[in-house]
Amino acid sequence: EAYGPAEPRPPVVTVMGHVDHGKTSLLDYIRKAKVAAGEAGGITQHIGAYHVETPRGVVTFLDTPGHEAFTAMRARGARATDIVILVVAADDGVMPQTVEAIHHARNARVPLVVAVNKIDKPEAQPDRVRQELTKHEVVAEEWGGNEIFVDVSAKTGQGIDKLLESVLLQAEVLELTAPRVGPATGIVVEARLDKGRGPVATVLVQRGTLNKGDVILAGREFGRVRAMLDEKGRPVKEAGPSIPVEIQGLSGVPSAGEEVLVVESERKAREIALYRQGK
Ligand code: GTP
Ligand code: NA
Ligand code: MG
Repeated sequence: EAYGPAEPRPPVVTVMGHVDHGKTSLLDYIRKAKVAAGEAGGITQHIGAYHVETPRGVVTFLDTPGHEAFTAMRARGARATDIVILVVAADDGVMPQTVEAIHHARNARVPLVVAVNKIDKPEAQPDRVRQELTKHEVVAEEWGGNEIFVDVSAKTGQGIDKLLESVLLQAEVLELTAPRVGPATGIVVEARLDKGRGPVATVLVQRGTLNKGDVILAGREFGRVRAMLDEKGRPVKEAGPSIPVEIQGLSGVPSAGEEVLVVESERKAREIALYRQGK
């Protein structure tokens, strides 16, 4: 298929770390929303995908659950991403899902930025976090290593500008590009069956542009994109590289992590989907 030239694209940043270390709260602060407080028991159960406009450009964030049951989801998050923000609570230190997140980032060859969170707490020990992370070969620049550490508070907002700056700096080094013109390809970051709307999938576009009305294949499912919403539930007509959108119109619920691509006809999409389903 014909693609246009490679163009700069926003970074896709996945926020990882141990349960309750403040991943969703950090994203809330960045988006000025209040998602963590509204979650069932304050536990993230899925990957939230959001893009935010900063003075220095757009950044797409994927939130991940820290609960140990969600290892596969974090692994997929790492694969779909350009940069990992590793959140470590300064009062709790390095925990099992902190170490696991380091492994996901290393396996996916994705750079890390460490956010030492909850720095507002009197019991915060940011140097202890640095010390503990050296054992996992994550060494702060100021300690002679290669990793950027930023002390932050999702509660007061301290350090969050610096964190964003560090992420954008890291992104500049990566010189991220993708063609904007051309049929979309991407990845399912999450999907579910909605009572009223049927199968709903959050798709991260990776190259090309996804348009309302496009026929897509998503793993073993297919369909015409009937509706496309941004993360605030607003209808959008198209989505370019690094932009997440929620789509309706698929034949079923695809698995997270499956590849999405635009195909020329519904007949062809159905044929491939049925073949993949073994029918
Ligand atoms: P999971 O998605 O369940 O893994 O948790 P999470 O990492 O997204 O953590 P979440 O944002 O749900 O925050 C957990 C708890 O820590 C909540 O009660 C937050 O209010 C609190 N919290 C998060 N960040 C900070 C911070 O910087 N300072 C203080 N004092 N509390 C924080
Ligand atoms: Na939580
Ligand atoms: Mg969360």
